Amino acid sequence: MKQLAVFASGTGTNFEAIAKACAEGVLEARVAVMVCDKPGAAVIEKAQRYGVKTFVFNPKEYSGKAEYEAEIVKVLDSEKIDLVCLAGYMRIVGDVLLDAYEGKIINIHPSLLPSFKGAHAVEDAVAYGVKVYGITIHWVNSELDGGKIIAQEAFPYEGDDPAEVHRLGQKIEHRLYIETIKKLIK
Ligand code: GRF
Repeated sequence: MKQLAVFASGTGTNFEAIAKACAEGVLEARVAVMVCDKPGAAVIEKAQRYGVKTFVFNPKEYSGKAEYEAEIVKVLDSEKIDLVCLAGYMRIVGDVLLDAYEGKIINIHPSLLPSFKGAHAVEDAVAYGVKVYGITIHWVNSELDGGKIIAQEAFPYEGDDPAEVHRLGQKIEHRLYIETIKKLIK
């Protein structure tokens, strides 16, 4: 049984898809910990509902990224984490976490990388007039949204409503993340 960590900052629909897949045996894995940098985020309540241990921290209470990442590494080590799944974790992963876990960290991003990196990928793509959108799952390295691509799925959309693109994209995300994790933990 593989041990997963999911990192999230917000709503946590991807967290929930992963936790549900584990609970239902679709994934032969367990979410050992959910790491969140936003006290009060909706994902925390979701984790509690699934009985998943949480590590919630406020970055402002630390001297910097190195200090809170050292704490995160301790938690991951103690849970013997095999794979870290970033799911709407709105922070750039730093050296301390990468030194300990590079090659075991994946991220899901709402664009067809390498196009539209960053936190406003969907809004940027809509503003650009994109007609084919997509979701990318990639390894995490020191470059923002820059690691090697593991999986991608495209979908057409001709309108100009970012909320609709998010909605269409998330339906794909929840399936594609599970399929990809399944392949990686085999
Ligand atoms: C997803 O759209 C993902 O692509 C991006 O952040 C969003 C997280 O959504 N990295 P949720 O919190 O899982 O609902």
